[in-house]
Amino acid sequence: MFNLLKNRRSIRKYTDEKVPEDVVSILLKSILTSPSGKNIQPWEIVYLNDEDKVSKLADAKAQGAEFLSAAKQCIVILADESKTDVWIEDVSIASTIAHLSAHALGLGSCWIQIRGRNTADGISSEEYVRKIVGIPENIRVEAIIAFGYAAEEKRPKEEEKLKLEKVFANEYGKRYFD
Ligand SMILES: Cc1cc2nc3c(=O)[nH]c(=O)nc-3n(C[C@H](O)[C@H](O)[C@H](O)COP(=O)(O)O)c2cc1C
Repeated sequence: MFNLLKNRRSIRKYTDEKVPEDVVSILLKSILTSPSGKNIQPWEIVYLNDEDKVSKLADAKAQGAEFLSAAKQCIVILADESKTDVWIEDVSIASTIAHLSAHALGLGSCWIQIRGRNTADGISSEEYVRKIVGIPENIRVEAIIAFGYAAEEKRPKEEEKLKLEKVFANEYGKRYFD
């Protein structure tokens, strides 16, 4: 697991090869294993392989989603906020599981933040995504996870560069690592 975590990077460039549906289906089922407060599972997922829709999502925020214009597939991670007060935690965990599972399946992926963001025209990013994907008003849009076969290489996280000074033992300020 530590190895997987060190090697996971945000990948924003993908080859033209579409990820086969049998792999996508494992990815989608993996997300549904996510832990959630009281096991309420407030999340919902929309998988998009309609390239026209995927590329329209590139304008979902002023910056940081441009690379969707060349992506073939993505997942929109949603939540019903009326179900639990910890929906943001739950949906963030589901997004993280999506990102890590994609990596474990040999895919590159990247989280695109939607909740709390705006388009270049000042429209809420959530509203923009709701319109394109047909999501009801009461359903929150947390993030888009773009994925595909990586067309860029990134170096793994170096263990020597981990911020060990952020970890304490027994008392704040007392470092765990020397
Ligand atoms: C909550 C969150 C929001 C993010 N939003 C975006 C985004 O909108 N666009 C983007 O290109 N990357 C986004 N990222 C990816 C981060 O930029 C990336 O994780 C960070 O730079 C560290 O790089 P690494 O993932 O390769 O370790 C987001 C990541 C997280 C966890």
